[in-house]
Amino acid sequence: MTISLNDLTALCKRRGFIYQSSEIYDGINGFWDYGPLGVELKNNVRRHWWDTIVRSREDVLGMDATIIMHPRIWEASGHSEHFTDPMVDCRECKRRFRADTLEGDSCPECGGELTEARQFNLMFKTFVGASEDSSSVAWLRPETAQAIFVQFKNITSTSRVKLPFGIAQIGKSFRNEINPRNFTFRSREFEQFELEYFVRPDETEKWYEYWRDQRYQWYLDIGIGKEKLRLRDHAEDELAHYARVCVDVEYEFPFGWSELEGIADRGTFDLDQHIKFSGKDLSLFDEERQEKVIPAVIESSGGLDRTILTLLADAYEVETLEDGSERNLLRFHPRIAPIQVAIFPLVKKLREPSLEIESDLRRWRFSTFYDEKGAIGRRYRRQDEAGTPYCVTIDFDTLEDGAVTVRDRDSMLQDRVATDQLRSYLEERLF
Ligand code: GAP
Repeated sequence: MTISLNDLTALCKRRGFIYQSSEIYDGINGFWDYGPLGVELKNNVRRHWWDTIVRSREDVLGMDATIIMHPRIWEASGHSEHFTDPMVDCRECKRRFRADTLEGDSCPECGGELTEARQFNLMFKTFVGASEDSSSVAWLRPETAQAIFVQFKNITSTSRVKLPFGIAQIGKSFRNEINPRNFTFRSREFEQFELEYFVRPDETEKWYEYWRDQRYQWYLDIGIGKEKLRLRDHAEDELAHYARVCVDVEYEFPFGWSELEGIADRGTFDLDQHIKFSGKDLSLFDEERQEKVIPAVIESSGGLDRTILTLLADAYEVETLEDGSERNLLRFHPRIAPIQVAIFPLVKKLREPSLEIESDLRRWRFSTFYDEKGAIGRRYRRQDEAGTPYCVTIDFDTLEDGAVTVRDRDSMLQDRVATDQLRSYLEERLF
């Protein structure tokens, strides 16, 4: 069964994954908030990216920069000049569109005549300090990458790195998109995870291929289905101003194949530009080759919010059961599921032993949820829809035989497990 974006949006709101920002004031276009389940999912994915890219590797270091930086950075990076979309206005209904995503020269809803296209810079403008004049203008960063290039010298001089090595960062970016759309897919405030991997300029091809394969595999490892995930090379006329080659990891959303992440060979463009604009020496001494070098960069740049949208779209299923009834479920990989184990007393009377089991599970670092409300079948359904891989039920037999019932989300099969075996039973299946 195909799931529409509307079904997904409704599920996200109903279950507390994602809400429209400022909803009681009718919302604000292009901004989204994460609810209790959404924030857990997001934290799990963010942590998993950081673990694979930074903590489990010896050649990648992390950093965390500010959102507002020196405005000259955006001149050096080319964003002041090139980070634009062509914009048109409808003379009738006054709505604004991106010219490159419209066909013909009339507006889709009202058929009105469109103005000539003008270039619109996507960076959000603000002012630093008390005066609002041209000397105090600053920009909210449209990507996290530039901070990495700008702090390149500090990091390499304090960390004794040798080529090849990477610097990684996760953080908010802002783009004043002309037409935010497709739920969170194109937002105005979003989170990126970016890796800038510095290599010898004659080794870019090898590392480009390496990171392309690593990054594709990462999406499979968080549970995204292979048949809806592909790599697509950029055509020459699609390349950003800084990129020599670029490949996108794409997912087949209900609205078509769309980009999750770009892996690009940025060459020495960024360091060269910052050398030129700052006047500082950003070269490195390559001990192995005994020469000074300006490293080239292979970038992997993904979006955390797009990854969350992908996980939700990919995991959502409406299953028809044997008796003809339907159940909604999210088949999250246990690694990123917001709740890993739900604990139910069969009846409220069994609250105390159930809470004891829950407290043990929490102590062992499982993320848990306790629910004693309603029929057991309804409680299972609620957890299916939250994507919880296991539910543990405590019944009257538990008091006699010290065993609980563990129910698997996907197969709906149930196992009787001794409480002293529960930890290893769940660890085997969840980690
Ligand atoms: N440093 C390179 C760079 O920023 P990009 O292709 O413009 O490249 C990288 O952005 C990733 O950031 C995208 O693949 C996407 O996942 C995410 N992203 C970009 N614009 C976005 C938006 N408006 N809303 C949500 N995510 C966005």
